[in-house]
Amino acid sequence: MDDMYREEILSHYKRPRNWGVIDEPDLEFEDTNPLCGDQLKVMFTLDEDRKVTEVKFDGHGCAISQASASMASEELVGKSVDELVTLEKSFVLDLLGIDISATRMKCAMLSLKVIKSAGLGGAVDWEPETPPSEAEAR
Ligand code: FES
Repeated sequence: MDDMYREEILSHYKRPRNWGVIDEPDLEFEDTNPLCGDQLKVMFTLDEDRKVTEVKFDGHGCAISQASASMASEELVGKSVDELVTLEKSFVLDLLGIDISATRMKCAMLSLKVIKSAGLGGAVDWEPETPPSEAEAR
C-alpha cells in the first residue's frame, strides 16, 4: 500500500500539477521551510463569492513538499476562502498517505502553511508538532 502512495508522490514531484504563475492573483503567499531554505508560493484567483477558481504553486523543494503542494492543488478549486483558512494538517497528510517523520513534517506542512496564509492575508503559524489532545494524554 505504501508503495502505491510513494509512486503517487514521485509522480507529483516529477510532474507537479497546477505549477506556474498567475499574473494578477487575488491571493498569494510565499514562505520558506526554515530547516532547508526551500521556498513555496501559492497564488489564487477567486470568483465574486470568494471561491477559488484557479490555483498555482511555484517554488522548489523536496519530493514531499512539491508533491504535497501538487496534490493539494487538485483539491482547492471551488473552496471558499473560509475553507482554505480552516484546512487541517490531516488534509495534507491524508493526500500524501504515508507516515511522515518529524524531520520531514515541515516539508509536508509548507504547502498548507502558504495556502492558509494566503487566505488569511498574513503568515500563519506552523501546524503544531503534536495535536494538543495527544500531547495532553501523555
Ligand atoms: Fe526542503 Fe523538504 S527538504 S522542503
